Amino acid sequence: MAKKVKALIARYPEGFQQSAVMPLLDLAQRQVASEGAKANPPYGGWIPRAAMDEIAVILGMPKVKVYEVASFYSMYNLAPVGKYLIQVCGTTPCWLCGSDKIIDACEKHLKIGMNETTKDGKFTLMEVECLGACVNAPMVQINDDYYEDLTAETMKEVLGLLAEDMKPQIGSQKGRRGSMALGGPTTLEKEAKKAKVV
Ligand code: FES
Repeated sequence: MAKKVKALIARYPEGFQQSAVMPLLDLAQRQVASEGAKANPPYGGWIPRAAMDEIAVILGMPKVKVYEVASFYSMYNLAPVGKYLIQVCGTTPCWLCGSDKIIDACEKHLKIGMNETTKDGKFTLMEVECLGACVNAPMVQINDDYYEDLTAETMKEVLGLLAEDMKPQIGSQKGRRGSMALGGPTTLEKEAKKAKVV
C-alpha cells in the first residue's frame, strides 16, 4: 500500500503533491471495499474519517481540506454502502428520458428507498447529478460501470444479474455502439466503415 501511495503522489510535480488527495481518497475507498469483502461480505467501498485524517498527515494538509474534497464529490462515500452502489442520474437529460421510471424500478425491485441499503448489504441506491453520459440517457453508474439507454425492464434485468453476482453487459442496453446514433452514422459514413465502427 505504501508503494501505491508513493507512486500516486509522484504523479504530481514538486510543490503540488496535495493534488494527490483525490487518488488517495479513491485508494482508501477501494481498500475498505476489498478488505470488507474478505472479512464481512457483501461490502462496499467507503472512506472512514481515520483514513481521511491519515491522508491529511501524508500530504501535509489540514484535515478539513481533505473532508471538503471527500464531501463534495459523489464518487466518495462517507458512510458504509452495499456491494453494488447504484447511482441513478437524475439531471435534466436523464430526467426527460425517464430517470423517474428507473428510480421507481430500482426502489420496487430492491424494496428500498433512496439512500437506503438492502438488508442483505448487496445494494445501495442513490441519486446523483450528471455523470457525463447524457447522450445515452437515462443511465446509472454501478460501482465502476455505466449502464445506459435503460428502461425499467432492462434496469431490473441488470439488478437481477448483479443479485446473482453475474456481470451484466455494460454500456448501452439497446446495443448502441458508444454514443453513436441508434440508426448508425449519419455523417462520415465511409470513414466509419473504414474505421470498422459500423
Ligand atoms: S444528465 Fe444524466 S448523464 Fe448527463
